[in-house]
Amino acid sequence: MAAVRVRDNVYWVGVKHPDVRNFHGYLVPYGTTYNAYLILDEKISLIDTVRAPFAGALLDNVREIVDPARIDYLISNHVEPDHSGALPALAAACPNATVVASPNGQKGLIAHYPELAPAWQVVKTGDTLCTGRYRFSFILMPMVHWPDSMSTYLEEEKILFSNDALGQHIASDARYDDELGEERLMERAGDYYANIVLPYGPQAQALLKSIAALDIEMAAPGHGVMLRSFLPKVLNKYDAWSRGESDPARGVIVYDTMWGSTKTMAESLARELAGRGVTAELLSLKETHVSTAMTRLLEAGFIAVGSPTLNRQVMPTVAAFLSYLRGLAPKRRTGLAFGAYGWGGESVGIIEETLTALQWTLEPSRKIRWRP
Ligand code: FEO
Repeated sequence: MAAVRVRDNVYWVGVKHPDVRNFHGYLVPYGTTYNAYLILDEKISLIDTVRAPFAGALLDNVREIVDPARIDYLISNHVEPDHSGALPALAAACPNATVVASPNGQKGLIAHYPELAPAWQVVKTGDTLCTGRYRFSFILMPMVHWPDSMSTYLEEEKILFSNDALGQHIASDARYDDELGEERLMERAGDYYANIVLPYGPQAQALLKSIAALDIEMAAPGHGVMLRSFLPKVLNKYDAWSRGESDPARGVIVYDTMWGSTKTMAESLARELAGRGVTAELLSLKETHVSTAMTRLLEAGFIAVGSPTLNRQVMPTVAAFLSYLRGLAPKRRTGLAFGAYGWGGESVGIIEETLTALQWTLEPSRKIRWRP
């Protein structure tokens, strides 16, 4: 049986995708899951679907519990295709189902699946849906991380179906945080936050305020494991991350090098930082994916970026990193640009431009000609 009983009337019916590695450019070294939840009551609800190619697996999981044709509500917390891709297949298999979505969710689903013409129930924060003895309430969480995103709270079971919020990209036999282990859970939750939620700190803060009054025993996100033992720890981290908090004693030095001079500068900087009480991690972009680098710097107070000058530019790896960094926009850091060059020396200025745009406090840049 692939479905997992969460409570007497609540089932995880999602699918695992263990071999995915590139998630729209984000490296997911342990794969992921697309979580969907089936809730049995007088009226039957399915919360979220899965990526389109896994629609059959989702329907098989539902059939282990109930005939999909009996589903009354398809609650869509988020339009992104990893959660809504199977909606057309589900709508076909559940001809009597009403699709429940936020106002932007409805717009987005219509734009993605114009062939669908379901009955709609459009909800906003505070709206409720009674399915018999259960009552769902909805919390819109715009820009955590799309305009349509929302969470669904099942009052009687004290479960928050939080979609992308509180998620982690990992495909595991574990379905719960304590089965995965705290260390791996926190690492995966941080990796997810750094690459998905980081630009939306104020919106994540708004979500935390919206759910503060709810009695939540468990969070059931759209990816990874359900949180029943370490939920307070993850929520505390979300609070710190979304406030832009970082550790001034932690540094990350991200760089690439052509003939070793910029690498030598990076190593020298790490030694210097150690003398200032900052433990710095060296990340070579030859070996480190940009999304992994983002995870490593999530809590680092000091971030240095180095590149030699190549054809009046930074190296392509560093250009990719700077683009990614600028989009995810971690706040309130100390930054430093550095690099070696032979003649033009434009790379350091290019890095400085990004760090300045991020409104970080900058230490004086370092340029060295030819060899340190
Ligand atoms: Fe997991 Fe925004 O999709």
